[in-house]
Amino acid sequence: MRIDIITVLPELLKSPFEASILKRAIEKELVSVHFHNLRDYTDLSYNQIDDYQYGGGAGMVMMVEPIDKCISNLQSQRSYDHVIYMTPDGETLNQKTANTLSLSGNIIILCGHYKGVDQRVRDMFITKEISVGDYVLSGGELAAAILCDSIIRLIPGVLNNETSALTDSFQDNLLAPAVYTRPAEYKGHKVPEVLMSGDFGKIEKWREQSAQERTQKLRPDLL
Ligand code: ADE
Repeated sequence: MRIDIITVLPELLKSPFEASILKRAIEKELVSVHFHNLRDYTDLSYNQIDDYQYGGGAGMVMMVEPIDKCISNLQSQRSYDHVIYMTPDGETLNQKTANTLSLSGNIIILCGHYKGVDQRVRDMFITKEISVGDYVLSGGELAAAILCDSIIRLIPGVLNNETSALTDSFQDNLLAPAVYTRPAEYKGHKVPEVLMSGDFGKIEKWREQSAQERTQKLRPDLL
């Protein structure tokens, strides 16, 4: 998979891809991530990429032309499955969307800033608008990092058995079961007996029940 990220703040976005699972996925060439600074696509003085909004009102709007130049340049080199715009008024990201997007070949992610982008960007180029939750961030960069992390860890070969995504929360619309490691007892708090029994049938049943109970208690809306 190839991910092209369009941003005015590439430096804000780089570190999540330089550690741990995402770094390994890039090193294994299971994904490549490319940053494009929108300011490289404007001819205006001071590398201007935003302007006052028509009709008045507080806040700047990202202009259509630099974004057009950047996206059109990318699309002239290869085809893309999705051109995604990170925005608080998009469809809320969930595991199902992450699963679907992890099957993509190439995607573009556009990070918004200020009051957002000129509506014509959305009309002309964007195929999917994604929010990471009902709150407003200073820009789309951190949201893009969340989206990329959720997608990349699902690409076959990125996770090994120990970190398998199949047992993650939400994969079957349930939260993950409770987990324990050594010691077997800590300050009077014991690990459930069954997990140390070696009876894998019983352990599996216990895990299913734990997942059901946790979902019922913490996220009944998922059931
Ligand atoms: N940009 C600003 N806030 C955002 C959010 N909640 N989700 C996605 N992009 C955003």
